Amino acid sequence: MFGHRGYPARFPENALAGFEYACEQGIDGLEFDVHLTADRVPVIMHDERIDRTTDGRGRIDQYTFEQLRHFRLANAEPVPSLAELLKLVSGRDVQLDLEFKTDKIQYPGIEAVVMQMVHATALRYPVIFSSFHLPTLKTCQRLAPNESYCWLTDKPVAHPAALVAREHLSGLHLHHFQSQASVTERIWTVDNPVVAADLMEQGVAGIFTDDFVTMMQVKRQLAN
Ligand code: G3P
Ligand code: MG
Repeated sequence: MFGHRGYPARFPENALAGFEYACEQGIDGLEFDVHLTADRVPVIMHDERIDRTTDGRGRIDQYTFEQLRHFRLANAEPVPSLAELLKLVSGRDVQLDLEFKTDKIQYPGIEAVVMQMVHATALRYPVIFSSFHLPTLKTCQRLAPNESYCWLTDKPVAHPAALVAREHLSGLHLHHFQSQASVTERIWTVDNPVVAADLMEQGVAGIFTDDFVTMMQVKRQLAN
């Protein structure tokens, strides 16, 4: 089970405080979204713009990291960097799903910067790298062929197993309307306990949820 953008049911999305709390509560995994600042620092935010989730305005890539840090999330923390999150989870019993947010802005070179940082960090589990933008994953594969890559899509996939094999993926991350359970798949975003129980019983590889505390209860009930 992956905390989608951390624990947005209780903390601002993609906030370090939410990631930290989820780790302390024993979550299996954390999903988060990565962009690059103007000076090529990977930072964690869902949108390409800072307007919705901070007290600032504008595109992430128009600010240097130092400039970006002046803006605040709703809990008054600055926009987290990938380096901060890697430090937070290093040595902890949690898996990361790192989503490259490259479907709208491609941030040339983001793959190498991110891979280098991840490879320099001692993590207990291999990172799952995901993106809606398949070329990003193909670039990553050239840099690090042995990592785990999952393509994200909210569209129906006609032949998922063939797609996974052809693109050398580890699996697909599908919107919960599109779950097919025919390949390794993780499903987003699942906050309904009935849907979650159904998916868990189908044996999906994982779910992304905004409310992992409730979903952990569902998991425990199914185990009893
Ligand atoms: O990785 C699953 C999910 O995060 C994909 O959608 O828009 O929430 O990043 P989004
Ligand atoms: Mg995401």
